Amino acid sequence: MLGPPGSGKGTQGERLAALYGVPHLSSGELLRGHVRAGTDLGRVAQEAMSRGDLIPDDLVIRMIADEVLGPSGPGGFVLDGFPRTVPQATAAYELASKRGFTLRAVILLEIPYAVLIDRLVTRGAEEGRTDDNAETIRHRIEVYRERTLPLVEYYHGRDILLRVDASGTIDEVTTAINAALDDSLGDGR
Ligand code: AP5
Ligand code: MG
Repeated sequence: MLGPPGSGKGTQGERLAALYGVPHLSSGELLRGHVRAGTDLGRVAQEAMSRGDLIPDDLVIRMIADEVLGPSGPGGFVLDGFPRTVPQATAAYELASKRGFTLRAVILLEIPYAVLIDRLVTRGAEEGRTDDNAETIRHRIEVYRERTLPLVEYYHGRDILLRVDASGTIDEVTTAINAALDDSLGDGR
């Protein structure tokens, strides 16, 4: 699941994982778990996350590798929030080819940035995520544009990129994702 902060990676990633009967691995959720548990990684990640900056690539790559090579792999999974930089995508590709995984589809959630700020400020008020305030949300969007958008070109070149309009209701977006995947994967689920 590729898309800016608040585009619905978590919401739609959960639904997709349930549909395919595979785990949903959200790098952000995993990192927040490390922060709560007070691990070494959590201590390093906490400050960058509350500023809306990315955690260094090598740390995130190691965390995801541990997850996908652990008990949940290799039956398939939905990745949400990873890879998020070109070096992470290169590392993911190397890891996958070494272990015999294939990246089947990259779902790009496309949405005007203005919608995101409203959604995330509302979530911040309801759930209290420390990075859900207007200033940090704007910074997260900047970071997305600088560090993550180049992945669109990277995956476009590899022909697995599915662009989905993420500005409708949650159900509309789910329908659009499932239709795009059916078209692209056919019976090869
Ligand atoms: P992460 O947790 O991935 O946050 P994010 O990318 O900022 O995205 P969000 O989780 O805020 O939004 P989402 O796209 O999942 O949308 P959601 O479904 O929740 O990362 C957090 C931080 O961790 C990063 O800033 C960084 O510091 C670090 N990090 C994580 N991965 C990293 C990596 N790979 N490398 C380096 N650092 C990393 O929806 C948002 C809200 O909108 C919800 O309230 C939802 O209910 C609502 N909503 C969803 N869809 C709709 C809809 N269609 N209509 C109306 N409301 C909707
Ligand atoms: Mg999320």
